[in-house]
This record gives sequence, structure tokens and C-alpha cells, in this order.
Amino acid sequence: MQGRTSTARLAPRDRSVVLGDGTARAALSFNDLTRHTLILGSSGAGKTTRAFNPILAQMLGGLDAGAFILAPKPEVVAEVVEIARQAGREALVIQPGSEVGLDLLSGSPDVDAMYFRDALGRVADADLQALDGAVTRLKNVLRMLLGTGRQYYTFEHLSSYCFDEQYAATVRVHAAEHRRAMLPNSEEAWTIDEAINYEDARWFQFTAETRRTVQFAISQLLEPLRDARIAKTFTHQRDLVGIESVFDGKVIVLHIPRAEYDSAAQVLYTMAKRRFFTTMERRRANPALDQTRPVVFALDEYQLCISESDIQSFGIVRSAGCMVLATAHGVSSLYSALPRHHVDAALQNFTQKIFFKTDDQETLALLDRATHHSPGAISPSLLFGMSRDQAMCHLTVGDDSIDAIVPLEPLFVIPDYLGETAREPVRPEATFVGEEQRRSPRRRKDRRASTSLRIA
Ligand SMILES: Nc1ncnc2c1ncn2[C@@H]1O[C@H](COP(=O)(O)OP(=O)(O)O)[C@@H](O)[C@H]1O
Ligand SMILES: [Mg+2]
Repeated sequence: MQGRTSTARLAPRDRSVVLGDGTARAALSFNDLTRHTLILGSSGAGKTTRAFNPILAQMLGGLDAGAFILAPKPEVVAEVVEIARQAGREALVIQPGSEVGLDLLSGSPDVDAMYFRDALGRVADADLQALDGAVTRLKNVLRMLLGTGRQYYTFEHLSSYCFDEQYAATVRVHAAEHRRAMLPNSEEAWTIDEAINYEDARWFQFTAETRRTVQFAISQLLEPLRDARIAKTFTHQRDLVGIESVFDGKVIVLHIPRAEYDSAAQVLYTMAKRRFFTTMERRRANPALDQTRPVVFALDEYQLCISESDIQSFGIVRSAGCMVLATAHGVSSLYSALPRHHVDAALQNFTQKIFFKTDDQETLALLDRATHHSPGAISPSLLFGMSRDQAMCHLTVGDDSIDAIVPLEPLFVIPDYLGETAREPVRPEATFVGEEQRRSPRRRKDRRASTSLRIA
């Protein structure tokens, strides 16, 4: 396995994340990590404590990364916040009802209409026309709202415009008034003209039946967001966090419990992802943003927040300095969320794969495919003989492929309320070599304990 000379003086981007120890040790560089990491294994196998937590801690610590984290499960929120605190970072938790919200609309009707398209997900062929109709209508309503004033460009106004005819008529009058005061060839004038033309030439020409079908598709998207706590956090014009703050090192955690907010979670996660991806892509075009800080996009329990558009986006954000770190229950659980060929394409985006114990046949088949070029080193049959603190790793470090069983010590950050150790919680703390200045001073000495984490 490959090593690196340890030095704390390296620039954050040149440090690495170390997995394992002694003879089974891999040092993944920032570049290796932008080839994205997927951690697989059954529930309780160790994905979060043995791989996700230690890797995230090193990314925030040594690599100095900003982070955008999707956490469908509540335990992970507490763990991530603690990991961020230990790395001397501010974590912002955004969940339904929280005071700070996330800016889900980009401000461009064309871009936002595409987000909506994604959020509506896969539809049967028979519904495709209604879906296209809904997206076109949403785009033109957003244009109308934008033309009336940026303060109208919110989910609430969008919903009112779509479903309250009187409100729509009033806004249209306002937009038309604004239009008269504008320079004829300006972009704003064009935006309003488009919106008004769409309504006159198309929307109002549709049969009542067609309009009903389109309205139904729109309500499927906007209806789940009509929840008091969701409205408070995501749809009002309020105290919003810009995703750009990840470039300053902020750790943003988006927590929408899947069990409570099923279809709303799907819509919000998908839109938040699109916002994040667009922000990453636009980084280079904006010299005011930090251009070099690594950013991690972390997804715990990916099967609960996977979307179709990830497949393309994971490939694109790589060149913008984004490392994707995901855990998933198993390949089967991904197949149950998206069609097979989409999942297979999504899996292609993860070069670095870490397997914990599992009896999921689809996961074992993936392990088999990943490692058949290096027979003997690791194989599905060896998986069952591993201890709890071991994982099968299929990694690419520089130009080298590494297939090995790697010891991964747990990073427990919060007490285990369910496990046997619940009566005597252990809370060892990560040690970040070369990161002394950035540590949180609170109760530092008495809480420090040794772990296997090192920054090479
Ligand atoms: N703070 C802790 N202290 C001791 N054991 C823990 C702690 N947190 C989790 N564990 C144990 O570690 C094992 C793996 O948990 P985890 O990494 O969360 O699994 P996964 O993410 O794969 O579902 C479980 O048996 C769990 O009970
Ligand atoms: Mg877990």
C-alpha cells in the first residue's frame, strides 16, 4: 500500500485522508477523493462510525474542506455537528422549522424550472406531456414574478399565482405596468413579454381539461411544500443561507427526516442538490469566491436521497473541486429507489469503494465486478471472515489500484444509545496533526483521547 511523508506544513489541498494502518494503509489525496467515495454495508455494519465519520473528520480537519451534507437520519446530524465542532468549524443545521432556511431558488426562471423537472422525478410516458406542460408553465410564472419584482420570486407567490386566479390577474397587471417603464430591448422587458405571450398564446388557449392536467402536475410538486414548518424554513423570503458559504469553510447540514416528510423530502433534497451543483459549477466564474478550498458533498444513507440528475452532476462537480462521500445500505436499496440503469450509471461515478459486511446479493455482485482484475487480494468470500473493524477497500490512489482488507477504527462522536456500550459511553476525539490553531478551546484537554486518525 502506498504511503506519504507526513508533514503538517503541506497546503490543505496537498494533504491526504488516511485509511487503515501499518501494512494495510491508503493515503487518498484530494485528487483521489474527487473521484468520489461510496461506503456500502448492511445496517449496523460500521459504515458511519468506521468510514464516514473518520473520512469526514479528516476532510474537514486536514483538507480544510467546506461541506454540504444531506442527513436523512437524525443520529447523523448530531455526529456531523460534533465532527465540525472538533474541527473548529461552524455547522448550520437546516431542517423543517429551523430559523435559518436554504435558498432553493436560483433566481433564474430557466434554471429553476429545470430543478422542478428533476424534483418531479420519473413519470410514466403517458404523463410526460403533462409534466412538460407543468414545467413550461412554472417557468413562465417565475418570469412573471421576476418581472414584477425580485421579492415576488418565492415558492409562496409561485403557488398563489398558479392556484389563485385573482392573485394571478393582479400580478399580471403589475408586471405589465413595470413593462411599460422598461427599455424596449432590455432583458427584463423580454422576460415579461415572454411570460405574457405564453399566457395569451398558449395557456389561455388550452382546453380546460389540458389546464387541469397541468395544474395537477404542478400541485404534486408544490403541495408537499405546504406544511407550516417547511414553509417557515424553505419557502418564505427570510434568513437564508447561501450555499456559496461552503467556499468559506461552512458546514451546511440539511436534515429532512424521510419518515415524516416523504414526498416533500424528495422535492427538497433534489432541489437542494441542484442548487449545490450549480453553485459548484459557477465557482470558477466568480473570482470573489475562494477558488481552492476543497468541498465535500456528503450523503449518509444515499438510498434515501438519490435523484436521477446525480448521475451527470457527480461527474461535473469533480472538476470544481468537489469530493462526494456517500454511504448506502446496499446496491439493492438503490435499485428500489431508481431504475437499474440509472443506478448502474450513478455507481460508475464512485471510483473509491469501501465494503462492510453485507449479504445483499447486488452489493456482493458489485464487489465481485470491482475486484475481478485482482484475484485473491479480496473477494466476496473473504467479506464474512472480517472483523467489525475491517472493510474491503477497492481504491485508486494516483495511478495505482488497491484492493485490500483495511483495518478501520471507529470514530465514535456521540454515545451509542442502542448498543451494549450505552451504559458507559466512550467519546474519543479526533486528533488533527497540524491543526492545533483551529481547535475549539472548550474542554479540550480532558476530552482528548487517541484514535487512529492521522493527516498525512
Ligand atoms: N458511540 C458509540 N459507541 C459504541 N458503539 C457504537 C457507537 N456508535 C455506534 N456504535 C456501534 O457501532 C456499530 C456500527 O454502527 P454504524 O457505524 O452506525 O453502522 P452503519 O452506519 O453501518 O449502520 C453498531 O453496532 C453500533 O451499535
Ligand atoms: Mg449509518
